[in-house]
Amino acid sequence: MSKRVRKAVLPVAGLGTRVLPGAKTTPKNMLNVFDRPILSYIVEEARAAGIEHFVFIVGRGQGAIEDYFDLSPEIEGILEAKGKGDILAEVRRDLPQPGEMSFIRQMSPLGLGHAVWCARDVIGDEPFAVILPDMLMAAERPALAQCVDAHGKVGGNIIAVEPAPAGETNKYGIVALASQDGRLNRMTGMVEKPPLGTEPSNLFISGRYILQPEIFGILETQERGAGGEIQLTDGMAQLMMRQDFHALEYEGTTYDCGDKIGLLRANVAFALRRPDFADAARAAIRALL
Ligand code: UTP
Repeated sequence: MSKRVRKAVLPVAGLGTRVLPGAKTTPKNMLNVFDRPILSYIVEEARAAGIEHFVFIVGRGQGAIEDYFDLSPEIEGILEAKGKGDILAEVRRDLPQPGEMSFIRQMSPLGLGHAVWCARDVIGDEPFAVILPDMLMAAERPALAQCVDAHGKVGGNIIAVEPAPAGETNKYGIVALASQDGRLNRMTGMVEKPPLGTEPSNLFISGRYILQPEIFGILETQERGAGGEIQLTDGMAQLMMRQDFHALEYEGTTYDCGDKIGLLRANVAFALRRPDFADAARAAIRALL
């Protein structure tokens, strides 16, 4: 029986160059999607999957993330004094229990593999989740919970995937499958940005993983790969020689908030998903068109 997934690594130390200048003084994952920072949705998704400890991998100048997940006595005091209980509840809804969050400095953004490796001591010897927080996923059963369900069934390592738009497989990490039958399939490989026509499938790695702790030993000595970065994909490809990997084609829609148009799409979509704002949002969008 595989161990339960209790901890998640959230790497947020990248520079967010694709969403500059917005991400110059506000960490990319603190940018707003409708009325909340991206990380608020991500933490909500992780909680729904049973995550009890959140390990943020942060960089310099990202203190706003720690502050967001802490009390704000001044704001809360004023809202209380003014009797604005509804706004107060919104402000407090993302607060963790003391001790539920760890913040680790990556020091240099050497790549996603390096960021994950920085979490090794806090994760210890148990399977864990990795969430790429710039990928927002709208799903009836939250995306990470679908991965945890799959891990409960087959154990090992799980990678969430989804079909790439036609002609765009060369932009993503693409998985190779032993066979394709239903949504959960054993993997035989993965390749980063394959030239068009050489892709082993149309399924790309979309930002939710369940990994076994043996990945840390591999990342420890791993050479730099594509883009001069220590790539998580390279580490996983090595681990696959010793352990099972399954790709889960999760049910839902992904919004890439690390990209300007993706962030715009997420803002529109998440406003339209809100019962209390959908009508007003629709009217505002229509008026613009
Ligand atoms: P991305 O490559 O999408 O993020 O990494 P980025 O580097 O911030 O974006 P651009 O390309 O410059 O616009 C995926 C996730 O991994 C984190 C990023 O913060 C992002 O959440 N990451 C990446 C790290 O934490 N450390 C790294 O060294 C690299």
